[in-house]
Amino acid sequence: MRMSVIGCGYLGAVHAAAMAELGHEVVGVDVDAQKVALLAAGQAPFFEPGLPELLTEVGATGRLTFTTDMAAVQGAAVHFICVGTPQKRGEYAADLAYVDGAVESLLPYLSPGDVVAGKSTVPVGTAERIAEQVAAAQPEATVVWNPEFLREGFAVQDTLHPDRIVLGVPAGPDGERATAIMDEVYAAPLADDTPQVITDLATAQLVKVAANSFLATKISFINAMAELCEATGADVTRLADAIGFDARIGRRFLNAGLGFGGGCLPKDIRAFMARAGELGADQALSFLKEVDAINMRRRVRMVDLAREVCDGSIVGKKIAVLGAAFKPDSDDVRDSPALSVAAQMGLQGARVVVTDPQAVANARRAWPDLRYAATPEEAAAGADVVVLATEWRQYRDLDPEAFGEIVGHKRIVDGRNVLDPAAWRAAGWTYRALGRH
Ligand code: UGA
Repeated sequence: MRMSVIGCGYLGAVHAAAMAELGHEVVGVDVDAQKVALLAAGQAPFFEPGLPELLTEVGATGRLTFTTDMAAVQGAAVHFICVGTPQKRGEYAADLAYVDGAVESLLPYLSPGDVVAGKSTVPVGTAERIAEQVAAAQPEATVVWNPEFLREGFAVQDTLHPDRIVLGVPAGPDGERATAIMDEVYAAPLADDTPQVITDLATAQLVKVAANSFLATKISFINAMAELCEATGADVTRLADAIGFDARIGRRFLNAGLGFGGGCLPKDIRAFMARAGELGADQALSFLKEVDAINMRRRVRMVDLAREVCDGSIVGKKIAVLGAAFKPDSDDVRDSPALSVAAQMGLQGARVVVTDPQAVANARRAWPDLRYAATPEEAAAGADVVVLATEWRQYRDLDPEAFGEIVGHKRIVDGRNVLDPAAWRAAGWTYRALGRH
């Protein structure tokens, strides 16, 4: 099937490549000429494991092209909207400028029978509004909502083998026809028995923010328990193991530490609260304010812990921060807890050096005033304290003996609860962590 993917960021680039891998003929469109040039040359514009290989593989088939020219979408049966919906400056609400821009420039090229499939995370009600715009421009085109649940770092796998397909369609024959087209799009995962939920537009839009809100709540729940553990001398990692054995609770997403960041969870819970307020249902989501507050408190606590191990002051102290990305296997620094902690310590007078295996270039653009190093060894040379902020494999595997030779003082704050406290203490380190002693 011929399809277009509008917006080629973390979501769209992977979606376009995955659709081509499934056998479709795909054109990816983006306003960023540099991004398009890289993708057209088979290169990923950001770090995502498996994406360069996938781009090379499907690039060779000729089924995947990229362009800045919206006219190229003409003739595609399905148009996926994959642009970003960042948080508005100074507000909780989502900024829909990119979605509106994408839809507006798509309208002139729609043909009868086309399906416009929204994948961007939007405030509920957006799909209905887009459906009206589309109906005015091309009455025989249909808008459906098909939220995406991929995780950065696992995006290729998640897109090729989703754990569910959610499709919101309008009632009546238009919806039935669009469903049949989308079934063809996802024929391969459906043949693999991927669960499919077909519903109305409002539910499909809500599913996405409900899922991310639940995940954020789960993380903040365990981080609230970490605060209790700190107050009582208990160990939050053992607590998470113990409650996680209950299948109704589950151990995944119960890792206490520096909390959640990235381009999705933080802004999605805020946009959800803003939308609930507009709908007169703000009380229903007031708990998300607490979820957000618990999450932000972890960052403050992390700076406090660094100060504690430095005998009460970080002024003039050299602090090595291991990690800049919001999570491992990503170069994404949007709302990164690691960088937020690094910047805060810098503002408070510490001499901070940040390192990350992939995200230094992006971090430097976001926080040019911080110092950066290529390796943990370089960052930690002579350091007064080491702060582990993103749990990259290479940081989890550090040898406390060898690493102890490099630093000025053997003090480490484990912001992700991934190191073995006994091993680090045995090597002479002062070890502190969020939620365990
Ligand atoms: C998240 C969702 O997990 C995806 O399902 C969703 O599709 C995506 O947002 C999106 O809306 O596009 P992602 O932002 O890639 O995916 O990252 P997550 O793996 O969810 O991690 C988010 C943050 O939570 C990271 O900063 C991570 O370090 C933190 N986290 C995660 C914890 O602090 N503890 C945990 O136990 C798990």
